Amino acid sequence: MEAALPNFFFHDLHPAPEDFHAEVIAGLRGENKRLPPKLFYDEQGSQLFDAITRLPEYYPTRTEIGLLQRHGPDMAGLVGDDGLLLELGSGSNIKIRILLEALRLQAYAPIDISREFLRLSAGAIAQDHPALQVHAICTDYSKPIELPRCFDTERRTVFFPGSSIGNFEPEQARELMQRVAALLGPDGRLLIGVDLKKDPERLHAAYNDSQGITACFNLNLLTRLNRELDADFDVSAFRHHAFYNEPLGRVEMHLIATIRQRVRVDGCCFEFQTGESIHTENSYKYSVDEFQALAAQAGLIGEAVWQDDDALFSIHCLKAA
Ligand code: TRP
Repeated sequence: MEAALPNFFFHDLHPAPEDFHAEVIAGLRGENKRLPPKLFYDEQGSQLFDAITRLPEYYPTRTEIGLLQRHGPDMAGLVGDDGLLLELGSGSNIKIRILLEALRLQAYAPIDISREFLRLSAGAIAQDHPALQVHAICTDYSKPIELPRCFDTERRTVFFPGSSIGNFEPEQARELMQRVAALLGPDGRLLIGVDLKKDPERLHAAYNDSQGITACFNLNLLTRLNRELDADFDVSAFRHHAFYNEPLGRVEMHLIATIRQRVRVDGCCFEFQTGESIHTENSYKYSVDEFQALAAQAGLIGEAVWQDDDALFSIHCLKAA
């Protein structure tokens, strides 16, 4: 047993398996089958995603880390000292560690849906920063977030790295940023990582790595349904398919049935034709101007934006208009 840390608090608001159930069944019933991407992140999925972030082809993580290292002090200057920082989809803790070198915080609240992953990575931050209050919240941040009562600090920052905002439809992304804007108050800032539009070949490679880790990550969704929702997917009868849909400005991730088959999920039956797809995720790519226009619709105005020399990735600092 680890000794409890006096500066570490864990708030478990993980959705119940029943909540997933309804979304999964509804997603598979539709004309175009789909599954919610937040289901990727069970423990195995979080580990596979971590492996993706280190792949040579997957430029976003490495590029965003470079931006944080290079411009962290400027970011800290805009955000200000002694506030509360909420991180959405905190995953592994590499990025916040870089910001914490430049930023003096009173409290840090990482929010993630992957429970044990969050417990470990947030606990390690609390251990290494004894003067920092760490409140980990395990919840689905695509739904309105209820903050624990102890969060009455004036200065609030929301840190939303990884271009996860691109995994929402633009309409949902706008709604999410509206909720963030309300949370920030007049003095707060949103620091958000956004993957930029670029050469389709580069995008294609980032989502079709040569080691096949991305394929394992995508297929792990089915393994999880087999285990947690009493499904009987034959994982070997599906394959990973990802491509850049240029007119829509998004990478699409699919699982394609390689043979005709019937699958049971918790007593419900679903037919698949050969070549039929389950759409598992989109990853929208935005130019700086496109993203600023979307943020403006959510009541946020840009204060600064940083990008790397190759214009692969951007980090925006936004505040309530
Ligand atoms: N948020 C990541 C992204 O859009 C998620 C991701 C990376 C992903 N690779 C994937 C999702 C492969 C499904 C399949 O870049």
